[in-house]
This record gives sequence, C-alpha cells and structure tokens, in this order.
Amino acid sequence: MKKCIITGGNSGIGKQAAIQIAQKGYRVIIGCRNEERGKQALEEIKKLTDTNDVEFVIIDMASKNSIVKAVDEIKARHEVLDVLIHNAADFDISRKKPVLSPDGIETIWATNHLGPVILTASLLPLLQKSVQGRVLTIASKGLVMYPNLKVDLDDPEFKHRKFSVAKAYYQSKLAQIMFTYRLAEKQKENNITANCIRVTNVKIDINRYPNVSAFMKWVYKLKSKSSISAEEMAKTYTWLAIAPELCNVSGKYYNEKNKVVSSSKYSLDEKNIDDVMKLTHVYLDKLNC
Ligand SMILES: NC(=O)c1ccc[n+]([C@@H]2O[C@H](COP(=O)([O-])OP(=O)(O)OC[C@H]3O[C@@H](n4cnc5c(N)ncnc54)[C@H](OP(=O)(O)O)[C@@H]3O)[C@@H](O)[C@H]2O)c1
Repeated sequence: MKKCIITGGNSGIGKQAAIQIAQKGYRVIIGCRNEERGKQALEEIKKLTDTNDVEFVIIDMASKNSIVKAVDEIKARHEVLDVLIHNAADFDISRKKPVLSPDGIETIWATNHLGPVILTASLLPLLQKSVQGRVLTIASKGLVMYPNLKVDLDDPEFKHRKFSVAKAYYQSKLAQIMFTYRLAEKQKENNITANCIRVTNVKIDINRYPNVSAFMKWVYKLKSKSSISAEEMAKTYTWLAIAPELCNVSGKYYNEKNKVVSSSKYSLDEKNIDDVMKLTHVYLDKLNC
C-alpha cells in the first residue's frame, strides 16, 4: 500500500486531500500541530472514507525539534514513503508584528519555508525507497499581485523593515517555489519528483482566525463568493500525488485546473535560486540540521 504524508491535514484543503487520497487506496498520515484537532480530523477522515488506513502524527512545522520528533515517529512506523505534501501554512492575516517560532525565527518564514525544507531533507531516505517518490509544495495565486517580489536576502524575518503579514506570507511562498525547482533538479537521478501547486482563492473558515477584524471578515465573505471549495482545490493535490502519467514530471508549477503555469521571472532565475537556497542553508546550519 502506498503512503502519503500531508501536513496540516486536519483542516481545509489538506483535510479534503487526505480524504481523496485515502479513497484512492493510499495510507494517509496527517501531520497536525494540535493533538485534539488531529485526532478529531483523523476520526472524521476514517468515517468518511470507511477505512482505518489513516494515521496522524504531531508536527509543528515552525519547530525543528517537533519536526525531528515527528520524523523519528514516522521512521519507526514506516520504511517507505511515496508522497509528501507540504500543505500546512501560517497565514494569520490579523498579525501586526512578527511572532517568533520556538527556534526564535519569524514564524511565517519558519513554518512555510524552513519547515518544509527540513522535513523534506529528513524524509528523503524514505522517499528514495519508493518506486517513485513525490514531493508537493504549496504556493499561492496571490503571488501574481506581487510580480516583482523578491526574497529579502538581508532581512527575510522583517527585523529591520516594517512587518507586513502579506509580504511575509508571499515571500515564504516564493521561496517554496524556488526550493521546489532546486529540489526537482537535485532529485532527478533518484526517481523523486517535486512540483508546486498554485492554490487559488479557496473558501476558508474565517472563524479559525479569532483576531481578524470585522472589516476583514466582511472582505473575506465577499471574496468567498468567487472562491472555490477546499474539496475542489484538493483534486489538484490528489492528481499530482497519484496520477501515473506524472511519474516523470518534475519542477513544474500547477494551477487548480491542473495546468502548468509560470511563476515570476525572478523565481525562475538560477542565480536567484542559488541565493535563496544559500540563505536557507544559513538557517539550517544555525539550527544544526
Ligand atoms: N485558502 C486560500 O484561499 C489559499 C490561497 C492560497 C494558498 N493557500 C495555501 O493552501 C494551503 C492550505 O490552506 P487552507 O486554505 O486549507 O487553510 P487552513 O484550513 O487554515 O489550513 C491550514 C493548515 O495548516 C496548519 N498549520 C498552520 N501552522 C502550522 C504549523 N506551524 N505546524 C503544523 N501545521 C500548521 C493548520 O493547523 P491548525 O488547525 O492547527 O491551525 C491547518 O491544518 C496553505 O499552504 C495555504 O497557504 C490557501
């Protein structure tokens, strides 16, 4: 039985993808940072899919120690991994200033970019044992609003510039796209593919963000009229995770219609990718990864 890990599998698109992939006969491991929410989602997914082939592991993508602990647990339970989906993300739009992760790093940068890099590196040995391993990263269609956005190599954590939650979020997603391109290139010989998904506007449960202002709630309500459902978006996750025709497709960026789209000129430039990965490795060295 093939195995798939989805971080943030207790909510939204991640939960819907967990349901769909389990229905396709995969054993799904949902990674959740909160035990109660994880267990609740696990029971829901089991019930909906009528299968017991679902597990959960506690993982806080903002914490290196939590990732290491989760990887140890996964390795103790499984020898092979076929699909890794980096769905979890921090995008609390009510945030007004940087919040630090347990490792003392700005949380959006830590959760959305560094966490997936660390988790991928730690699980590569299991993915390499798969007949064909797949890594899926998640970016956002919102990036088209920021065509000139760059990863700030001098200050990715907004220590010396004004914090903007949108910029921090899109910077982390931009870094994920660039990481995916580099991973795809590096894993060419190992039968592991890496692709990134450009998630469009998807209905979210705004009540998950209690600090959001009444105005922003209204904006979201308006926006949700043109949003697709999490279930609909998850179909792209599922297709990229399991479609046999994609076994040799790597280093691509897909939209919700399963079409290849282009990311920004900046993100495609090899020198820029080198720079972002060098910066990423400075963090990994600091964290002893
Ligand atoms: N919804 C959209 O319109 C939209 C647009 C563009 C991109 N995206 C991307 O799509 C993906 C899924 O988003 P969604 O709409 O399904 O949102 P969601 O329902 O809020 O799900 C986010 C998930 O990430 C988890 N998470 C957050 N921080 C975490 C951490 N430090 N460690 C582990 N898990 C963590 C959350 O767990 P908790 O339940 O514990 O909070 C939740 O399970 C994200 O990557 C997001 O950036 C969404």
